[in-house]
Amino acid sequence: MTEERQLNVLINNAGIMMCPYSKTADGFEMQLGVNHLGHFLLTFLLLDLMKRSAPARIINVSSMAHSWGSIQLDDINSERHYHSRRAYGQSKLANILSTRALAKRLKGTGVNVYVIHPGVVRTELKRHMNIPLLVMWKIVRPFTKTVVQGAQTSIYCAVEPELDAESGGYYSNCSPASCSRAARDDVMAEKLWVLSCQMLGITWE
Ligand SMILES: NC(=O)c1ccc[n+]([C@@H]2O[C@H](COP(=O)([O-])OP(=O)(O)OC[C@H]3O[C@@H](n4cnc5c(N)ncnc54)[C@H](OP(=O)(O)O)[C@@H]3O)[C@@H](O)[C@H]2O)c1
Repeated sequence: MTEERQLNVLINNAGIMMCPYSKTADGFEMQLGVNHLGHFLLTFLLLDLMKRSAPARIINVSSMAHSWGSIQLDDINSERHYHSRRAYGQSKLANILSTRALAKRLKGTGVNVYVIHPGVVRTELKRHMNIPLLVMWKIVRPFTKTVVQGAQTSIYCAVEPELDAESGGYYSNCSPASCSRAARDDVMAEKLWVLSCQMLGITWE
């Protein structure tokens, strides 16, 4: 990372869905750790370089599944109660809220941030789905996207000149999209921001 002199696009894409309860090496619930906190920390570590490289763009890959969960500030690691689908929803909601909070902090830096739903895409993400969900998956499969199609909204947000003046928004099918009311809660976005910084031991203005 210290060897790179320029970084104009960061796509925070890695993710897991609905895995059995486990924790990362740092003690975070696995879906929150991989889908939200890992990206939050990576972005923090790369941001000075991106500001020096501006114009630059960050794309966070969320999901329409952000509406499956809520932010459990008092049990963020699901230690008292774990529901794999809700925990996935919490992590994807965290992607949208942290994008909104980051956009405010990046105003005037030349670094823009976007959050996207890629569509329902034929990938390995479904590996932890239970049998009823896998049956449903088989039914909807003809209507799902190929990986090339699934990449298009991330690419759109990475390169589309019309988005030069936009930051903090949610996109799907290469267009602005509406997200849940919980995903537009800027008070919760700030609370989650503070908690994420505490969990990672970082100070971010
Ligand atoms: N597929 C869909 O229908 C869909 C819908 C909405 C949102 N999404 C989102 O799209 C993103 C990509 O998922 P996908 O569908 O492409 O799933 P995928 O085929 O399972 O790929 C997931 C990717 O995440 C990486 N990854 C997982 N755990 C990791 C970890 N602990 N550290 C580093 N990398 C890790 C994997 O790397 P390795 O291959 O090295 O393990 C892989 O490249 C995710 O954020 C997902 O939530 C997908």
